Amino acid sequence: MAEAPIYEARGVSKSYGSVVALENVDLALHAGEVVGLVGDNGAGKSTLVKVLSGVHQPDGGSVYLDGVQRSWRSPHEALEAGIETLYQDAGLCPDLSVNANVFLGRERLRPGLLGKLGVLDNKAMAATTREQLEQVGVDLTGVRRTVSKLSGGQRQAVAIGRAVAWARKVIILDEPTNHLGARQSGEVLRVIRRARDRGLGVVFISHTLPHVLETTDRTVVLRLGRVVADEPTSTFTPDSLLKAITGLTAERAADV
Ligand SMILES: Nc1ncnc2c1ncn2[C@@H]1O[C@H](COP(=O)(O)OP(=O)(O)O)[C@@H](O)[C@H]1O
Ligand SMILES: [Mg+2]
Repeated sequence: MAEAPIYEARGVSKSYGSVVALENVDLALHAGEVVGLVGDNGAGKSTLVKVLSGVHQPDGGSVYLDGVQRSWRSPHEALEAGIETLYQDAGLCPDLSVNANVFLGRERLRPGLLGKLGVLDNKAMAATTREQLEQVGVDLTGVRRTVSKLSGGQRQAVAIGRAVAWARKVIILDEPTNHLGARQSGEVLRVIRRARDRGLGVVFISHTLPHVLETTDRTVVLRLGRVVADEPTSTFTPDSLLKAITGLTAERAADV
């Protein structure tokens, strides 16, 4: 890809006390590109997500948005700059409606005096929610239903739909297909492709290698906090990707 990355980590290092979680990590993300981020448990994937989303400040290195060096003081700052993140195991609020979840922290008030009194514009939020989720390919009737009435797959679709709908530049999804069945995962992967087609840069983390192989344009492999591979996804086979992740071939991996 010739054009400059939309978002980049350069030489990022991060330790927790004596545990080195990331060491000199580079990751470049282009608009309209899905980058798969893979690695064994403890490889540093979630830590990198937290650096990219402004939860953690790196100990070394920096992030660059549109080529400009940034130092997020909070996740809110990264969010304001157009970077949406779905954290691993982050949930929705089950007792709120779908549209209340989509507008969580971004509630819209009624125009005029009622708004000044803090009255929410539920009608407008419901309409926008339906429109936004539809736009990203999440088909849900009854956005005023409470989330606790939805299936696991529908909840995940709402969580991803919310992130994709608000994202202006970058969306980071940490294991969004975990705990989902095949059909539900397929729906999530479809939402990811739609996000790419809208020109967003997408970071997709998954342990399910077939999902990574079928959905991403490029794959970055982390092992013990270092990038050990960064290649077009089409150059990997399931076996070579597993080998990059573990350092072992599939046969050897089956033995250990
Ligand atoms: N809050 C934390 N405090 C201490 N160590 C942590 C913390 N979060 C992660 N780690 C450690 O950092 C390393 C990378 O973890 P993580 O980024 O969660 O990896 P992954 O998401 O690839 O499984 C691991 O050794 C993990 O135990
Ligand atoms: Mg993780």
